[in-house]
Order: sequence, then C-alpha cells, then structure tokens
Amino acid sequence: MHIEYQGQKIPIKARQSVLEALEVAGFIMNFQCRNGICGACRCKLLSGEINYEETPFAMTKKDDVLICIAKVKAYVKLANG
Ligand code: FES
Repeated sequence: MHIEYQGQKIPIKARQSVLEALEVAGFIMNFQCRNGICGACRCKLLSGEINYEETPFAMTKKDDVLICIAKVKAYVKLANG
C-alpha cells in the first residue's frame, strides 16, 4: 500500500497511521493531539479510501482526513487540508 502526497508515493504499513508514514518519509506535518481530537492534522482526500479504528472527535467534512488516526484501506492520494 502507499500514499500519494505532494507528487511522491510513500509506502505505508497496515498498522501505521497516515501521519506516521508521512513522518517516516521525512514530511513535517501539522499535528497536536495524535488522537483525532484537535483537527490540526486535517488533510484532503483526493482519491482512495481510509478508515478509522475509532470515531474521531474533531469535526470533518466529507473529503477531510484526520491523518493522525487514519489507516489506508488501499491507495490514497492526499493534499494539505
Ligand atoms: S493531531 Fe489532533 S486530530 Fe490529528
């Protein structure tokens, strides 16, 4: 599986959050709580599917992704939120 972000394809493991995978790849991402509460890590889902193991507390629109708790179901393409 992988994420596409800023024109790069970043590998992601099944148990890894999108935020963790982007950090391993060297991206400096916005975040605060890492628990789906604050909304600071919000990105836009351009294509693909994600899921959350727990329902996030922060409000999200249809195409928003809280990357700190998001897991990738398959390929996803993201942009800054
Ligand atoms: S870092 Fe707070 S919701 Fe993701």
